[in-house]
Amino acid sequence: MTITSGKSSVTGNTGKKGAGAVAPLTRSQLRSRIAKLPRMRMAHLPTPLEEMPRLTAELGGPRILVKREDMTGLAYGGNKARHYEFEIPHIRDEGYDTLINIMDYHSNNARMTAAAANKAGMRYVLVLKNAAHRSVQGNLLIDKLLGAELHLLDQFQSETAGDYATKLKEKLESEGAKPYLLQDHLFPRIVGMVGFVDAGLELLDQIEELGLQNVHIFGVAGRSLCGLILAARNLGLDWKFTGVQVTYDPPLDEYIFQHSNDIKALLDLPLTYSKADMPVLTQYVGEGYGIMTPEVAEAIHMAARTDAIICDPNYTGTVMAALIDQVREGNLGMDESVIFLHTGGLPAVFTFAEQLAKWKG
Ligand SMILES: Cc1ncc(COP(=O)(O)O)c(C=O)c1O
Repeated sequence: MTITSGKSSVTGNTGKKGAGAVAPLTRSQLRSRIAKLPRMRMAHLPTPLEEMPRLTAELGGPRILVKREDMTGLAYGGNKARHYEFEIPHIRDEGYDTLINIMDYHSNNARMTAAAANKAGMRYVLVLKNAAHRSVQGNLLIDKLLGAELHLLDQFQSETAGDYATKLKEKLESEGAKPYLLQDHLFPRIVGMVGFVDAGLELLDQIEELGLQNVHIFGVAGRSLCGLILAARNLGLDWKFTGVQVTYDPPLDEYIFQHSNDIKALLDLPLTYSKADMPVLTQYVGEGYGIMTPEVAEAIHMAARTDAIICDPNYTGTVMAALIDQVREGNLGMDESVIFLHTGGLPAVFTFAEQLAKWKG
């Protein structure tokens, strides 16, 4: 079933017909589902949807655009600004005054949580894995500037970072604080999708404005992309998605697919996502998270030298490498409008300065 909503062509959800098919929500119905959750405005929105004409020409493939989630603000931008608009009020409204977070030393999440905690006037205790003796650069430098209370673990301590953080939490409680250890709760694991359901509504307006057809969105196989998928499915849109895996840990089932019903319930949605909605490219991870591949280094340089888009070595650089490879391999239709979801991560380029500067194309 194809119906028309505004200027864009939309199809019935999942293409299923007849009894049992679920009618799509209108935009205002979806907006009102999101509006039921408490929200603290932090992100610079809407983020631009920008053409990448020089990359498109260089690759000789389909039209490529970029959704600039790297421009959300909140201490150098990224997808988490949308996440925290919903996460922080939820936690604060439950009476917590302190956030405890366990992350890797170059984590974007660590940095953006610090920024969000500051905005909300909450104390922020950050347990960073594999962080001892690292040079203070990239996200770690910003964590410091933002005043995060840092616990820099060495490789050995990192294996039991959860126990370390739990002990910290107990200590803070004994001192009268009300700490919220992010890794102990379900809400922080799924709330990122809410912000990106909202982003889906925003993107739909921009796609219509440009008259784009055959929309195909590439992004990190994660919660942000799932949020866009949720928006598309519940609005009955025919957008295609490709997720790019950037890490083996945690496995994607545990990270996103097992939470499809949790987010459906949280937002009271008629439909949720499944694996079939997000084909995942697994071949671009390389040795593992935090180890930049030569293809990612090439992709970072190519996006920068064509359309002046800076990608990061862990997440968006991997998606860009995948996108470039897929175009070169002829796996994308020339009639597609390919949207690269730039989820941020920019301070990490400074952590990888030496490797990036050595690259010779
Ligand atoms: C730059 C960047 N992109 C994407 C992701 C994936 O996040 P999510 O699963 O919340 O979409 C992260 C996670 O920290 C990130 O830092």
